Amino acid sequence: MFELTDQIKSEAAELRKVLDAHNHSYYKLNNPTIPDAEYDDLFRQLQSLESQFPELLTPDSPTQRVGGPVLEAFSKVEHLQPMLSLGNVFSDEEAEAFESRVCQRLGRSEGIAYFAEPKLDGLAISLLYREGKLERAATRGDGRVGEDVTVQIRTIKDIPYTLRGRVPPLVEVRGEVFMSLDAFEAMNQKARAANEKVFANPRNAAAGSLRQLDPKVTAQRKLSMYCHGIGEISEGFLPEGYGALLTVFKAWGLPVCPEGKCFDRFSECLVYCQTLLERRHELEYEIDGIVYKVDRFADQGILGAVSRAPRWAIAHKFPPVEVTTSVQGIDVQVGRTGALTPVARLEPVNVAGVVVTNATLHNFQELEAKDVRIGDRVVVRRAGDVIPEVVRVVPAEKSTERAAVFQEPDICPVCGGRVVRAPGEVVLRCEGQLRCPAQRKEGLKHFSARRAMNIEGLGDKLVEMLIERGFIKSPVDLFTLHDRRSELIKIKGLGAKSVDKLLDAIERSKQTTLARFLFALGIREVGEATAANLAVFFGDLDGLKAADHQTLITVPDVGPIVAVHIRNWLADEKNQALLDALQAQGVVWPVVEKTDTKEDLPLAGMAIVLTGSLSSMTRDEAKALLMGLGARVTGSVSKRTACVIAGEKAGSKRANAEALGVAVYDESAFTGGISAIIEQLKHKS
Ligand code: IVH
Repeated sequence: MFELTDQIKSEAAELRKVLDAHNHSYYKLNNPTIPDAEYDDLFRQLQSLESQFPELLTPDSPTQRVGGPVLEAFSKVEHLQPMLSLGNVFSDEEAEAFESRVCQRLGRSEGIAYFAEPKLDGLAISLLYREGKLERAATRGDGRVGEDVTVQIRTIKDIPYTLRGRVPPLVEVRGEVFMSLDAFEAMNQKARAANEKVFANPRNAAAGSLRQLDPKVTAQRKLSMYCHGIGEISEGFLPEGYGALLTVFKAWGLPVCPEGKCFDRFSECLVYCQTLLERRHELEYEIDGIVYKVDRFADQGILGAVSRAPRWAIAHKFPPVEVTTSVQGIDVQVGRTGALTPVARLEPVNVAGVVVTNATLHNFQELEAKDVRIGDRVVVRRAGDVIPEVVRVVPAEKSTERAAVFQEPDICPVCGGRVVRAPGEVVLRCEGQLRCPAQRKEGLKHFSARRAMNIEGLGDKLVEMLIERGFIKSPVDLFTLHDRRSELIKIKGLGAKSVDKLLDAIERSKQTTLARFLFALGIREVGEATAANLAVFFGDLDGLKAADHQTLITVPDVGPIVAVHIRNWLADEKNQALLDALQAQGVVWPVVEKTDTKEDLPLAGMAIVLTGSLSSMTRDEAKALLMGLGARVTGSVSKRTACVIAGEKAGSKRANAEALGVAVYDESAFTGGISAIIEQLKHKS
């Protein structure tokens, strides 16, 4: 046993001070200063000291408190039953130790069922229903007293005002209010475009949206809820176990997470945890772990709780999606449309299982707002399909000298061309258009990419080399490369065989589709889905060339801004010459059958499920592509599902589809031949 020294005492005091400060930022200001995982780490250090030296434990230690203080602007509400928090474990071994404690306390190791479900990263809410009517909603607050958020909660569509069926005279339903990743991205994108404050993560967005004194603001934010517990309930209404309770919740019309499962053996919970960790990015919401709960309420009663958390439940935390690292440099990247993006070069860091070395800063206004400088320590976040981003700077502990503010460039770092910001635009752009080598490079990479002209074997590196050696400047040059075969085969590392393969692939790519061709042109804001819609709407290029603004905006998915970009692009003489030259080189496509209305779109009325991760596009892009073709993209597989597109690590949705006889296409079938899929689906329906 170690001795309690002054040094240990001051260490504990310091930890308490730091944790209190973080608690304040987290709960009161809704603005966490460190990632949750680092907070957990400090918390555990203090917990461990306090368990070694019980004399250190003070009643006001952060380890003894549930959540944070009550916001003064909301009226206070006393919960009928306290709202508890959860203890955390970070490994299978620690989770098994939890199970051992449960068995020991219950005095048996057989016949203990466990319920496992995602730990949602949102905020806990208690809903009080009297005679089936929603009477009051409150945040957790300090666990005993929370804030009344009834009017805000009433704006959430998932939450019923009235429960259905046989309902108890009184029930306190507990659950998590959260924001889906889609809603979070959409909200931040809107904020970014309007140069407004963006939220650091969905949890803050959910908390910030709910803690609005004006419920109209809450109503505009798309919040969701899943129920995960019970407080007070009238006698005779509590079922045997938690799994059964969730079934009752569903029958009452309350939202319940569809991923939860009951297991007879604890070891199966660990397999479930691993599976969900791998499928984490498939979910439409952020989860930071799995919660294991002893299922039977009688057993829960025997186990009871210690001050902060029940002994019958534990959270098994995942590796964090937010971590801190330092900024080694700030690069400026020039995209295909000339947009200049500041990118932070980072000390390599593992974020949710992937080593990240670069993170986007989105644009210069955001860089300025976040005040990121070289040498700073920053929080980096990587969630779902979203590219890693710098969330915020971690304030330096002492008054350490910081590097100078990073200056917005006034010339393009690649071509030296002028940099401009169009009125009302947030993004800086290089004016050089196709004259700028960076844009030319990006434009050519995009043109030959698999989802565009699909020139097999012409990857990014080869495009760069061909540009640098002066073989190609514009897409047209690709189609005259065969005239320079003898020069090409002399290039070190290429050789006759690979040159011929490349020339063949270029030749084959000439037989394309109008949708691919339009996408390949790289017109601003014309992504794959828009290109597909334009192709279906106009049928051929001539119709599109002749279209006025009014006609363009009647195309699904084309708004006034996209219409202006299309018209500007087509009005440019250089682009007109490019189109003529490409067609003169033999680029052709079959004329697409024209449609006028949404119902005529090729996938109209079909429900499609996306599952697993796609390597060639983000989930949002895939969704947009399918929706542009008229499909509804849904979350769960049923008999009515037209097909499932399954990427890497597809889990239960793929299995469900196979069991129900629903067609499953893998990524290569999807990206390589959407028209073949359309044909097959049409045939079936
Ligand atoms: S059970 C007594 N189940 O995590 C049990 N909590 O870190 C307390 N949370 O305060 C809640 N997902 O806000 C439970 N499936 C889940 C949860 C969950 C997220 C939150 C909840 C709780 C916090 C504890």
